[in-house]
Amino acid sequence: MQKPIIILAIESSCDDTSAAVLRDGILLSNVTASQTVHEAWGGVVPELASRAHQQNIVPVVDHALKKAGVEKEELSAIAFTRGPGLMGSLLVGVSFAKGLARSLGIPMIDVNHLQGHVLAHFIRESDDDHSQPSFPYLCLLVSGGNSQIVKVNSYDNMEILGQTIDDAAGEAIDKCSKVMGLGYPGGPIIDRLARQGNPDAYEFSKPQIKGYDYSFSGLKTSFLYHLQDWQKEDPDFVEHHKEDLAASLEKTVVDILMKKLRLAVKDTGIRQVAVAGGVSANTGLRNAFKDHARRYHWKIFIPKFSYTTDNAAMIGITGYFKYQAGDFCDIDAEPFARITQ
Ligand code: KG4
Repeated sequence: MQKPIIILAIESSCDDTSAAVLRDGILLSNVTASQTVHEAWGGVVPELASRAHQQNIVPVVDHALKKAGVEKEELSAIAFTRGPGLMGSLLVGVSFAKGLARSLGIPMIDVNHLQGHVLAHFIRESDDDHSQPSFPYLCLLVSGGNSQIVKVNSYDNMEILGQTIDDAAGEAIDKCSKVMGLGYPGGPIIDRLARQGNPDAYEFSKPQIKGYDYSFSGLKTSFLYHLQDWQKEDPDFVEHHKEDLAASLEKTVVDILMKKLRLAVKDTGIRQVAVAGGVSANTGLRNAFKDHARRYHWKIFIPKFSYTTDNAAMIGITGYFKYQAGDFCDIDAEPFARITQ
């Protein structure tokens, strides 16, 4: 019998410390420690994030191995997020992966965080899970740092058809939530409030840019200016109308995202459409996907909630593909903060 391929994956690109274990591409465990320390600051504080990763990484990895019932000596390789992300955060995961791989004498696999999000649809929790897309498919990748339409030709061949020219969708939602004085991160709060509001209560500006690119900075400004005007009339405007504001904001973001995605589907003829990244947890966006599946006969792929935000399972499945291709990295692999590197 062939030896199983057992991969330990580590993700530490932002403010979640996560570790996962996979055996022959099947997920055995996925453990994430989210950092609450940033809430008081209204955004991720890089220095605090790296310190928290340093505290979390050993217990998180330990827990993931125990949950999977795997001894570290059984591991075939260690996959880790190399970037993009916060440098101090990445350094913790990368250094840990290097130390453990070296001590066990096993190979390392460097994974691009965004590639991980896009391939999250291949995470399988059991042998009889066959709900994965086939290639090619389109993936709307929407997170706090990115808004892209990606054509996925194979696990290692992806084309970015369009992307934001300024703010990301999640960033815009978080910033609007901040000007409303709601907590951080704004995404889940806006989502919750939007369920009780009228999405057609207010209109905010939508970008008019050609092609598949996105822009969200105009929406953010339009939201802020409208709010300032309304608050002149009623200083408690947000408190009185937060549900309608959230619902209208969410609808605008979803409309902007889906319009370009429809165009990409029309032009490429690819009807397998996936969504990934933190904002893919959004109820309005998920409903819009389901609605498009019905109306335009798309075959849609929506990740489980635990695979929308940063998680090591997606790093593990990407690592598994790379392992099979013999695509390993050297001990001197350095993390990278930006996509362009
Ligand atoms: O992918 P992610 O966890 O982190 C990176 O950016 O790498 O995405 C985080 C973003 C944040 O902007 C957060 O507000 C947003 O995802 N988000 C949501 C929801 N849950 C998280 N946005 C809208 N609705 C949600 N339910």
